[in-house]
Amino acid sequence: MRHALNYTPEIDTTAEQDAGSGFFIAFEGGDGSGKTTQIKLLAQALTDRGFDVLVTREPGGTDIGEKLRTLVLEHGQGEVDPHTEALIFAASRAAHAHQKIRPALAEGKVVLCDRYIDSSAAYQGAGRGLGVENIVNLSLWATSNLLPHTTVLLDVPLVEGRERAGARGQTDRMESADDSFYAALHDAFRAQAAATPYRYTVIDGDRSIQEVHQDVLSAVLKVLS
Ligand code: ADP
Ligand code: TYD
Repeated sequence: MRHALNYTPEIDTTAEQDAGSGFFIAFEGGDGSGKTTQIKLLAQALTDRGFDVLVTREPGGTDIGEKLRTLVLEHGQGEVDPHTEALIFAASRAAHAHQKIRPALAEGKVVLCDRYIDSSAAYQGAGRGLGVENIVNLSLWATSNLLPHTTVLLDVPLVEGRERAGARGQTDRMESADDSFYAALHDAFRAQAAATPYRYTVIDGDRSIQEVHQDVLSAVLKVLS
């Protein structure tokens, strides 16, 4: 498979070193895999249990990041070639890691982030064909090596995710890509989790919202304890 995501950076999860008592959880998966839905339910469940939770997202999460989100996702911003696209996602991530995630972790928060480095690896590295290793290294540099303590991958069949995302109605610039792009990134998410299983919590997302939530919650409570 040309775009296999088999690159494992040889670094420690520096989130652990810098986090204070905080905990960093990224949510990954294709469009429509249920990330936003599950983050909302998990945030409430953790808050009810007394955790101090920060919900955030990429691209975005900071003032500059939300501006970069508009530039990279909205139609009509001019041509965005793949290298420019990769750098915009990385710039948003740099601001996010330095201005928002690290300070929140230092305050002891549980940070729930809708997409992070794996999205760049899958969409830009595999989908756009820029190379997973280049893209992961770019993000590691941008964030000064901030990796999540765990990444929850919502595994949903490609067709199901596309249908769910399609039912939302609007299509952003990324969602206008062709079927082979989606197939490449779908494989890439799975390959990354398979290559470094200790960094992932893989959940079968092809069930009811409540069933998925129960699994996400119990897995996250386990890693938090
Ligand atoms: P993502 O953030 O991964 O793109 P969303 O959470 O926005 O996904 O979900 C996309 C759509 O699919 C929403 O309309 C949501 O209500 C619906 N959805 C989410 N999870 C499920 C599920 N387990 N079963 C059926 N529909 C779902
Ligand atoms: P968003 O609406 O947040 O995601 P979803 O459709 O899953 O709810 O859209 C973000 C889009 O940007 C999505 O198509 C994935 C893409 N993306 C990248 O291509 N690279 C990245 O590094 C990130 C964070 C997102």
